[in-house]
Amino acid sequence: MRKAAITGSGVFTPSQTITNDELVAAFNAYADRQNAAGAEPPVPHSSAAFITSASGIERRFVLDKEGVLDPDRMYPSLPPRADDQPGVMAEMALDACGKALDMAEVAPGDIQAVLCAASNHERAYPAIAIEIQELLGTSGFAFDMNVACSSATFGIQAAADMIRAGSIDRAIVVNPEICSAHLEWRDRDCHFIFGDVCTALVLEADDLAQGPRFTIESTRCATKFSNNIRNNDGFLRRTRDQMEDRRDMQFMQNGRKVFKEVLPMVSAHIGDHLNAEGVSADELRRLWLHQANKSMNDFIGRKVLGRIPSPEEQPNILQNYANTSSAGSIIAFAQHSDGLSPGDRGLICSFGAGYSVGSVLVTRAGPA
Ligand code: COA
Repeated sequence: MRKAAITGSGVFTPSQTITNDELVAAFNAYADRQNAAGAEPPVPHSSAAFITSASGIERRFVLDKEGVLDPDRMYPSLPPRADDQPGVMAEMALDACGKALDMAEVAPGDIQAVLCAASNHERAYPAIAIEIQELLGTSGFAFDMNVACSSATFGIQAAADMIRAGSIDRAIVVNPEICSAHLEWRDRDCHFIFGDVCTALVLEADDLAQGPRFTIESTRCATKFSNNIRNNDGFLRRTRDQMEDRRDMQFMQNGRKVFKEVLPMVSAHIGDHLNAEGVSADELRRLWLHQANKSMNDFIGRKVLGRIPSPEEQPNILQNYANTSSAGSIIAFAQHSDGLSPGDRGLICSFGAGYSVGSVLVTRAGPA
């Protein structure tokens, strides 16, 4: 069977960052105002030391820092755009896709499918992916998909399957994540978790690719229903007023349960995937994991490799980006793929709401 390969990657990183200290100062100012107004129960202060030790996150990139840090607002200001203007997600995607196409040395017209795979979509339809197709000038077709934090790996499997089946030669899988608009910045249990970013990968039929690439040996996806990570809304245009009494309209999670239930699911998933491919954990030179929590990644790395992985073997980017949902493992892949020689194996793995887990086993191929 024909194989697919990843030949290009790109990351769009917003220009604005929020450090833990800035975030906590804004949250505490908000809490003080609520308490002065008689909030019952009182709103407890957040702490930067807690955030770093519980999650490993030190800062996050966002599209609108001002709105998030305004204690009277605590929500990004992303004004609705006219229908004839590019949407926010499409704009982020253009940047990331452009970088991925340049790296792959592929012309947009040679891409036959765009999959916009993300947790948060700006609108229901027309598909964001079709807008990206139009703006990039790709051919063929495009569609959106959502498997929360696992959207990228499920998107890679879908695109790779189309290439393996021979229905297309080349695809882009793009993950614009505007997590800031879906985070409840007024809830101290989760206000530190997310950031904004967009990642893109170019996938090509392996036999058409000439340059350095990562051949996709196999992909594996699994889901199991859980309400422990949930968002009952989903679209950006809702205003703060409309959400006032609806905590369920933003990201909610039972973090402790997620920890306990997802970790064994992910470690077993990766173990089963490697076994099915006859690949031993010792052969893995790199693990590009979903970036939600440092202790989670430390646990999975240790369980999969049977020892503590070095920072090069299992790169983390969450200290700078926070959790960027589906984009996290792809940022790690895009920024930490150097130093691998032809024949070296690696594994991309994402996991999260659904629950969902997806893994992509790759081999570095092409010229050194
Ligand atoms: N500042 C200070 N204290 C805080 C706080 C904050 N911002 N947020 C919570 N706390 C307090 C809690 O109220 C709790 O206090 P208590 O013991 O008096 O009740 C204590 O710190 C511990 O809180 P807990 O939520 O149990 O912490 P945790 O160690 O589980 O870490 C997460 C919280 C969210 C970082 C962690 O559970 C996690 O990462 N889970 C997995 C999340 C995940 O991957 N989600 C996927 C999203 S897609």
